[in-house]
Amino acid sequence: MLARLTALSLVFAFCGSAQTTLRQAAAQRALPIGAAADADEYGQANKLNIPAYATTLSTQFSMLEPENAMKWDVTQPGQNTFNFEPADKLVAFAQANHMVVRGHNLCWHSQLPAWLGPYAQTATPAQMSTVLQNHINTVVGHFQGQVFAWDVVNEPFNDPATGVLPDLRNSIWYNQPGIGQSGTGYIEQALRWAHAADPNALLFINDYNLEAPGAKFNALYAMVKDFVSRGVPINGVGFEMHLTLGSYPSSTGLAQNIQALYALGLQVHITEMDVRLQVDSNGNASAADLQSQAAQYQRIMTVCLQNPGCTAFQVWGVSDGNSWIPGSFPGFGAALPFDVNYQPKPAFNSLISAMQTVTPTLNSANIVNAANYKGGSVAPGELVTIFGANFGPPSLAGAQLDSNGRVASTLSGTQVLFDGTPAPLIYSLAGQVSAVVPYEVAGKTQTVVQYVYNNVQSNTVTVPVVPAVPGIFSQNSLGTGPGSMLNPDNTLNTAQNPIAAGSYVQIFATGAGTIAGGAVDGAPAPGAGAQTLTVTATVNGVNAPILYAGPAPGEVNGVLQVDLTIPSGTPSGPQAVVVLVNGVASQGGVTVAVK
Ligand code: XIL
Repeated sequence: MLARLTALSLVFAFCGSAQTTLRQAAAQRALPIGAAADADEYGQANKLNIPAYATTLSTQFSMLEPENAMKWDVTQPGQNTFNFEPADKLVAFAQANHMVVRGHNLCWHSQLPAWLGPYAQTATPAQMSTVLQNHINTVVGHFQGQVFAWDVVNEPFNDPATGVLPDLRNSIWYNQPGIGQSGTGYIEQALRWAHAADPNALLFINDYNLEAPGAKFNALYAMVKDFVSRGVPINGVGFEMHLTLGSYPSSTGLAQNIQALYALGLQVHITEMDVRLQVDSNGNASAADLQSQAAQYQRIMTVCLQNPGCTAFQVWGVSDGNSWIPGSFPGFGAALPFDVNYQPKPAFNSLISAMQTVTPTLNSANIVNAANYKGGSVAPGELVTIFGANFGPPSLAGAQLDSNGRVASTLSGTQVLFDGTPAPLIYSLAGQVSAVVPYEVAGKTQTVVQYVYNNVQSNTVTVPVVPAVPGIFSQNSLGTGPGSMLNPDNTLNTAQNPIAAGSYVQIFATGAGTIAGGAVDGAPAPGAGAQTLTVTATVNGVNAPILYAGPAPGEVNGVLQVDLTIPSGTPSGPQAVVVLVNGVASQGGVTVAVK
């Protein structure tokens, strides 16, 4: 008995030492978690050579942002003389440890090289423009393909904001002398140059005090809204999140700002979080303050996990021993989740706890027909796409067949349950999963949907069930314009490859309800079959004779194939096609090209 107890306690001791890392917990949530890091950029000893620094960085974090090594004073110390050595070391470290790199930054009013201030005093805006373009082009070009996201312009807004747009801070790039652009033009220009140098990098504007609604956020929002509407390359906004005890953004305010940007199609990265505390002469904070700090880390992480618009979370430094806070805010310190000895603090535990317990949010409005993105109800066998917050694998996992030759209902740790029945999955990706509604929902008025990723369950939502809700697949994957339709020779029907009136096309759709004789979830459709419900169709508003309407042979049960004859007399050009199932029409705006 005694021996057995000892063995058990040994097991517990072992479990305790193999503590979950931030990186592991974040991977479960498909969330990149980062730290700012230094190498040897100011002639200091290379921090990457400190074993505890390097180990903490690589085991606890999946993302790395050079804290200083990509700034102007390091990268262009002499005019047109570039130095990438420190940043290259950080990038190589990240790559060796399978971490992604955020680039920081390309245009800022601070940490400029000594030559640039005097130069700017006599330079023309045209010369300044050339200098900035050359810098962005050279730096982004050097790291092309290695930096997944760039802070292109850093801290451009007035602080405090004046409330008068564009509310931009005076700087050599804006107006002293500026690069010859008015208003937000210099920021737009910087984004365009960065995009040209690496079209695949995500481009961000980064600033502080954007976390709460107010004049500063309004200025940022007005600018990015204009950028998005005009197609200026921008992907997101960095919220720095340098907090101090007693001065925090509210969860609702933060969520509101993330959601406002997400509605524009922009992401938010929490880029520089720390929570500085008052410290004694030994650099120690009180136990109570460390607990308050932990609560704030947990709260901000929770908001991030609850909002699909928040796509990365980063802290500003590896440990309290190398944080910028003591140097920049005398009397303050202890701002990060690891202490000076790289030991986890209460903030570490609270971050882990948030990542392990915050419920992924499932919103019924985000369960939509996979062909036309219309939601509100589901039909048996309908292919649906579900959008949601920070769940799913970081890269796309495509459908797999299980041992019965059916489309598997567990994919990369993902499941979608309808009344507890796992649905066949077409693909799973962070924030997006596509499933086939099980035929078991047929005849019900509603179904309870839940999402599971790596054993973390979302909330459940109740969605009305209808017999049919058809959607036609289109070539742009958005459910508009030319349909995903095949001519009789199985070539894609396009404006260049139209079909003559009197001939037929094969149309692909979903949401047509049950299949006559029943259907097995996830099984490939047999060579023929029929829908239970009546399928009709129109082309250009005219009834089109149906040759076949039923399961698409070889596709997963749930895909509807309709072969219809283009009515004689149909005019040439793109003509509207509508499929009706028991009278319920598919979306408008899908066309077939007629000769
Ligand atoms: C800080 C670094 O952490 C310090 O090492 C450096 O001396 C000054 O800059 N906002 C930013 C970061 O965008 O670049 C700043 O980093 C912190 C505030």
